Amino acid sequence: MQLSIKSLTKTYPGDVRALDNISLTIPTGMFGLLGPNGAGKSTLMRTIATLQDADEGSIYLGDIDVLRNKAQIRRYLGYLPQEFGVYPRTSAVSLLTHLASLKGVGDNTKHRREIVDALLFRVNLYDVRQKAVATYSGGMRQRFGIAQALLGDPKLIIVDEPTAGLDPGERNRFYNLLSEVGESVVVILSTHIVEDVKELCQNMAIIHRGQLKFNGSPSSAEASMRGRIWSRSMSKQELRDFQGFRVLSTKLIEGRPIVRVFSETDPGEGFQGAEPNLEDAFFFHIQ
Ligand SMILES: Nc1ncnc2c1ncn2[C@@H]1O[C@H](COP(=O)(O)OP(=O)(O)OP(=O)(O)O)[C@@H](O)[C@H]1O
Ligand SMILES: [Mg+2]
Repeated sequence: MQLSIKSLTKTYPGDVRALDNISLTIPTGMFGLLGPNGAGKSTLMRTIATLQDADEGSIYLGDIDVLRNKAQIRRYLGYLPQEFGVYPRTSAVSLLTHLASLKGVGDNTKHRREIVDALLFRVNLYDVRQKAVATYSGGMRQRFGIAQALLGDPKLIIVDEPTAGLDPGERNRFYNLLSEVGESVVVILSTHIVEDVKELCQNMAIIHRGQLKFNGSPSSAEASMRGRIWSRSMSKQELRDFQGFRVLSTKLIEGRPIVRVFSETDPGEGFQGAEPNLEDAFFFHIQ
């Protein structure tokens, strides 16, 4: 089952073109949607999740017309929004059971309870299942968020910047969980963290100001930069005087700026050819 997006366009009041003629095919597996703040990631995800209409364009999951069969798609969908809203003073087990019954998961109370317990075990919240979700840490809430997104064995999972605010350990746990389910279904993950996409996703897209800038594998994104990335270190004064190059990024290493530039030919000036990375491709496409 794959997701096919064709010519999707959305303009908000005030003439903000959040999606500008986006066409994408998303196969089974983990798909990374990479873009800076305001790129249109959440708009795209909410549209796929049937929570918002586009102005033009189509989305198909297999042969199901997503925008015309919302009720059907919602049965196949697991969605973790960027803002999960207010957490009730209800235990994880009661809240998840409630969400399960809303989604029609489980044939009866006992069966539903088994599914809920199994999910809480899977996201490593079983021991704290009787505690109120409101008292959970950020990482625990995200894991609860994934548990609710996994209710009903979704074929399409959408998670919108799920690791914002998680410590490295929680982030790893979260991603391991996601990549386990991601083998057999379509998982779309949005982020502005380049490393996340590199580690997790077989396929990715870079979007910027509503436009699709790149679609392919992380390694093909890197390969497209091969022979065109040059770097050198310079003093802060040199950096201030530095111009006439297409600078992709400037990083401090031990307090000294390392500048990476994009150039089709050797820029001279002491620059050395550098091994391209995904961040180079990202900065190249969002400038
Ligand atoms: N309800 C809305 N009304 C008007 N403009 C909106 C609305 N929602 C989003 N926008 C605008 O549309 C553009 C895309 O927003 P969107 O939230 O989809 O981006 P994003 O990639 O998810 O950003 P972030 O990384 O900050 O979450 C932005 O310019 C945003 O200000
Ligand atoms: Mg967003």
